Amino acid sequence: MTKIAVIADPHIGIGSQVFVENWHRAVSHVNMRECALTVILGDLTFDAANSRSDLDFAQTSLSALHGPCLVLPGNHDVGDVDRSSPQPADAERIARWTETFGPDYWLCDAVPGWRLVGIDSQILGTGLEREEEQWAFLETALRSDRRTVLFTHQPLFLERWDEGDRPYWATCGVPRQRMRGLLDMTGTSAVVSAHMHRALAAVPARGPAFFWTPATSFLTRNSSMPAQDGTEIMGVTILDLSEHGMTAGFDPVPGLETFYIEDFNGSLYPAPAK
Ligand SMILES: [Fe+2]
Ligand SMILES: [Fe+2]
Repeated sequence: MTKIAVIADPHIGIGSQVFVENWHRAVSHVNMRECALTVILGDLTFDAANSRSDLDFAQTSLSALHGPCLVLPGNHDVGDVDRSSPQPADAERIARWTETFGPDYWLCDAVPGWRLVGIDSQILGTGLEREEEQWAFLETALRSDRRTVLFTHQPLFLERWDEGDRPYWATCGVPRQRMRGLLDMTGTSAVVSAHMHRALAAVPARGPAFFWTPATSFLTRNSSMPAQDGTEIMGVTILDLSEHGMTAGFDPVPGLETFYIEDFNGSLYPAPAK
């Protein structure tokens, strides 16, 4: 069996250091769990979409992890899917990210019998050149004789494959259906996502299992969120991968301070539309 840690949504940076102590606690906990690998599942930074110094701060902070790590970007790292956002994901923001952390999508065959595939959810449905490159990569990466797990910052949907578009919260319908076709065709085992700052494990009768990973930074109250089935906890996620399949456990982190984003009264981030 191989253990992988997932740290989701640390939101660390120079601009606001409110969540940095929680990052240190999460890293100490993950180091103690002695996992083979850590995946940082996006929103690593407080605001690298607009701040070079937050990007540099996050890069330096990663060195506290004892083992190897793979990093994916989230909306606060490379910008939003929504083209009308004041901070849309674009070539410049993505280049800043890739120059610092390497490619914003990747595959990893380090776990025996398994393939880990990580994508940049922030370009899905944008029409950016990078999006088509990523689809071409996915067509190849997901076709494997290994079991495959897809890692993505945004969930593919909140409640149903056929729900309406909420670009801030989940992958939109057109790329979502394209992804569904690929996941079905390739028999992908599981989809692991972040972004909701909630925990969820759903294993449907057919198709991939879905895991939402809790954040280390803050919670969001139901009144600020669209309807969804996630559980309001903070912590890190430990994935166990073996020849029998994959299980996910949500670890509370000792000493992690609980924050609610609403209690900052919009001083950290503007409230997104539900
Ligand atoms: Fe986040
Ligand atoms: Fe996010």
